[in-house]
Amino acid sequence: MLTVLFTLSLLAVWLPHVSLLDNGLAKTPPMGWMSWAQFYCEIDCLHHPYSCISEDLYMEMATRLVEDGYKDVGYNSIHIDDCWLEMNRSADGKLVADRVRFQSGILALSNYMHERGLKLGLYEDYGTKTCAGYPGSYGYMEMDANTFAEWGVDYFKFDGCNMDAEKIPQGYKEMSAWINKTGHSMVYSCEWPLYLLVNNKTVDYAEVSNYCNLWRNYYDVSASWNSIQSIINFFDLNQDQLIPVTGPGRWNDPDMIVVGQNSITPDQSRTQMSIWSIWSAPLIMSNDLRLIAPVYKEILQNRRVIAIDQDPLGKMGRLVVNTTNVAVYVKPVTPTDENSSQSSFAVVIFNRHFKSSAKVTVRLNEIGLINSAGYFVQDLWNEEKRGIMLPDDQYIADVPPTGVNMFKATLTQADF
Ligand SMILES: *[C@@H]1O[C@H](CO)[C@@H](O)[C@H](O)[C@H]1NC(C)=O
Ligand SMILES: *[C@@H]1O[C@H](CO)[C@@H](O)[C@H](O)[C@H]1NC(C)=O
Ligand SMILES: *[C@@H]1O[C@H](CO)[C@@H](O)[C@H](O)[C@H]1NC(C)=O
Ligand SMILES: *[C@@H]1O[C@H](CO)[C@@H](O)[C@H](O)[C@H]1NC(C)=O
Ligand SMILES: *[C@@H]1O[C@H](CO)[C@@H](O)[C@H](O)[C@H]1NC(C)=O
Repeated sequence: MLTVLFTLSLLAVWLPHVSLLDNGLAKTPPMGWMSWAQFYCEIDCLHHPYSCISEDLYMEMATRLVEDGYKDVGYNSIHIDDCWLEMNRSADGKLVADRVRFQSGILALSNYMHERGLKLGLYEDYGTKTCAGYPGSYGYMEMDANTFAEWGVDYFKFDGCNMDAEKIPQGYKEMSAWINKTGHSMVYSCEWPLYLLVNNKTVDYAEVSNYCNLWRNYYDVSASWNSIQSIINFFDLNQDQLIPVTGPGRWNDPDMIVVGQNSITPDQSRTQMSIWSIWSAPLIMSNDLRLIAPVYKEILQNRRVIAIDQDPLGKMGRLVVNTTNVAVYVKPVTPTDENSSQSSFAVVIFNRHFKSSAKVTVRLNEIGLINSAGYFVQDLWNEEKRGIMLPDDQYIADVPPTGVNMFKATLTQADF
């Protein structure tokens, strides 16, 4: 039995900021599917026709999104990552998609997505080459922004390999301006903070959030529990910087959801979905939707948890309790009461221990849930309704190793 005791010292402060990026996009965190953490840079279609980076792969995943219920719960975009290009630009300098693997071209692929009510994301890199060695945008940024716009791309991911750290901030700002100048709406996904981190430089998050709709803060996720935990640790330690810059149209990006890959257990999968949702992080899956086990599909399609991620307030939740093994996160969500300026909350209780489950007891007012008329409390993963709970009441949960308990505490009508 582990009882979590602590003093409440962390009430959220939401700072105002000047808004420069005003493209009206990504008002809730983007949701979709991306190839990288499952298929990486497999380009040998002769030996790996089923898993090589090609238009067929993206069209098949689009079909799975639409036919298997993912689109219905919000996953509405297909993202191409690195390794889609020819090694050389055309004679007039334009980017060319691989002529064999993308024989119909990117415009045809974006049309294919749009016909199915989906969006297309495409990848480039600010440097002289992409991370995998394909032509980068350095010296071609205006042309490349225009090419993406002509192809009907909806979402532009801009990587930062093969570029001097000193030039990183300026390059990301310039590309933001070029994208705007095309007149074509594209979500702008940056890796600006990550490349400053790699080079031991400090990040001005307020500045980043004025140019990008979302930004990668930390190293790439891979389909391992260690990777997920290292990302959680980084976000925990830096939350005071990350929380104030989060909001509709501007999101921290802890990287892809690897739920559905068999190296992550179902409990660990619920942990990734829950904590990413508490953060208002993008939910961009990387897995093989053609082969996914039903347990993972069900986790990915949990509407109650997705609703927390997509909550219109767009707040990033906060770690408010941290013991050796247990972390508790709290996120303000709708419905709110404008008169008392109180909100409802989503709460995640995470058990870091690798082998033992934890029985956790949390008094609601200890984690900032102080509405005197109480809250209607419901577990989000097992759907158990706990009824009305008052601030002095204790919420008790058995949390499996490397797993979570997640609940929503909805303001009761009495306070409206
Ligand atoms: C790319 O262009 C360079 C010269 O600009 C040439 O040497 C090389 O053979 C070309 N590569 C391919 C794959 O066409
Ligand atoms: C470009 O920026 C202006 C304001 O800064 C905004 O009104 C406009 O919608 C943007 N256009 C695109 C295509 O993002
Ligand atoms: C960043 O700092 C780490 C640890 O101090 C060091 O190992 C690494 O070489 C540094 N990287 C760069 C690019 O300076
Ligand atoms: C939370 O506690 C764990 C275990 O003691 C520790 O490793 C981690 O750094 C702590 N996180 C924060 C943000 O204090
Ligand atoms: C909030 O306050 C306003 C103004 O006092 C009042 O008209 C409204 O009914 C109140 N709303 C609720 C939900 O109590």
